[in-house]
Amino acid sequence: MLILHVVGARPNFMKAAPVMRCLAAYPAIRQELVHTGQHYDVNMSDIFFQQLDMPAPDINLQVGSGSHAQQTADIISRFEPVVLERKPDLVLVYGDVNSTVAAALVCAKLLVRVGHVEAGLRSFDRTMPEEINRLLTDQLADLLFTPSKDGNQNLAREGVAPEKVFLVGNVMIDTLVRMLPVARERVPKHLPERYVLVTLHRPANVDDLEWLRDMLAMLNDISKRIAVVFPVHPRTRRRMAEAGLQANCVRIIEPLPYIEFLASQTRAALVLSDSGGIQEETTYLGVPCITVRENTERPITVEQGTNYLIGRNVEKLRDAIERILGGEKKQGTVPELWDGHASERIAKIIARLQPVGVAAKADGL
Ligand code: UD1
Repeated sequence: MLILHVVGARPNFMKAAPVMRCLAAYPAIRQELVHTGQHYDVNMSDIFFQQLDMPAPDINLQVGSGSHAQQTADIISRFEPVVLERKPDLVLVYGDVNSTVAAALVCAKLLVRVGHVEAGLRSFDRTMPEEINRLLTDQLADLLFTPSKDGNQNLAREGVAPEKVFLVGNVMIDTLVRMLPVARERVPKHLPERYVLVTLHRPANVDDLEWLRDMLAMLNDISKRIAVVFPVHPRTRRRMAEAGLQANCVRIIEPLPYIEFLASQTRAALVLSDSGGIQEETTYLGVPCITVRENTERPITVEQGTNYLIGRNVEKLRDAIERILGGEKKQGTVPELWDGHASERIAKIIARLQPVGVAAKADGL
C-alpha cells in the first residue's frame, strides 16, 4: 500500500513527522512525502525537517507565495500529475492550511482516498481562511482523524458519516512529548530569566496596521517591566516594515526552530499568540497562554487548558497580561488522548485498510 503525505506550511511538519514514523513500522506500507513549497524559507521549513528527523521530501511542488487563489490553484495543478503518476492508495493531509484543502480536492476528483489528520476543528468564523480549508477538507475526506470529542460533534452536525470519523487524539502532542527532553536541555542563547513569548501572524492581527501598531505599542510598554521575546513570522515582518512599525524595547528575533521554540514556551511566564498549535502546546505544558483572537477552533484549550481567549481590545489584553504576570493561574488539565500516542492509533487504523488500486483518471471527472 502506498501512502502520500502532503505537507506545505510550518504547522504541518510536526503533525506529519510522528504519523510517518509510526507507519514505518508496517512493512506492507510504503510512504512518500510531498512538500507543496507553501513555506520555503530555511527557518520556516528545512530546519523543521532536520530537527524532527523527517525524510527529505520525495517531491517538492515549489509553489511559493501568492494570493490564496493563486497558491491553492498552483498546488492543485502541480499535485494532480503526482497523484496520477504515483497512484497512491491513500493520501494524508494535515491541519488547515491551503496545501491541505488543495491536495484533498485533487484526490476527491481523482477518486483517491484522503485521510485528514486534525479533522473536525471549527472556529465558526468564515472570515478565517483556515476555517474554509477545514470545512471543505472534512467534506472531501474519507477518513477523519479528530484530536478531541468536540471535533466528532462538529462533524456529526455537518452530516459526516460516523464510520469515517476516528477520535485518535492530538498528533502535535506526540511530537511535543518526543522532543520535550531535548528541548529541556537546549535553552536558546540569550533567553532572559523571565519573559513573555509572543507570536503573531494571522491576517486579522497583522494586516490591520492600526491594530498591529496598537498591539506593538502595548507590548513595548509591557517590555519595560518584563522582557518580551517576539520571533517574527515573515508576513508580520513585512507588514511592520511596510508601515514603519517598531517596538524598540521588544526583542524581535527570527522565527525559531521547533526545539528552540518549544524550549522557549516551557520557560515562558506567559505566551501571547494568535497561533492554533500554540494554544495546544501551552495547554499540554501548563503554561498560561493568551490567544489574541475573537474565537478559537480549539475551545478545549480554554475549557480544560491554560488558554485565555482575548479579542481585539488593548485594555483587556493589558489587563489579562498584568493579572497573569501578577500570579493568576488557571489550573489546566491535559485533554483526553493528548498522550503522545495519537499517531500510533492512526497507523493502526490505516494498516487495517485494504489497498484500493486507484481509479485515478484525469479526464472526464
Ligand atoms: C499559513 C497558514 C496558517 C498557519 C501559518 C503558519 C494558510 C491559509 N495559512 O499562514 O494557517 O498558521 O501558515 O506559519 O495556509 N512567507 C515567507 N517565507 C515562508 C513562508 C511565507 O516569506 O517560508 C511569507 C510570504 O511572503 C507569504 C506570507 O509569508 O506571502 C504568508 O505565507 P502563507 O503561507 O501564504 O500564509 P501564512 O500567513 O504563513
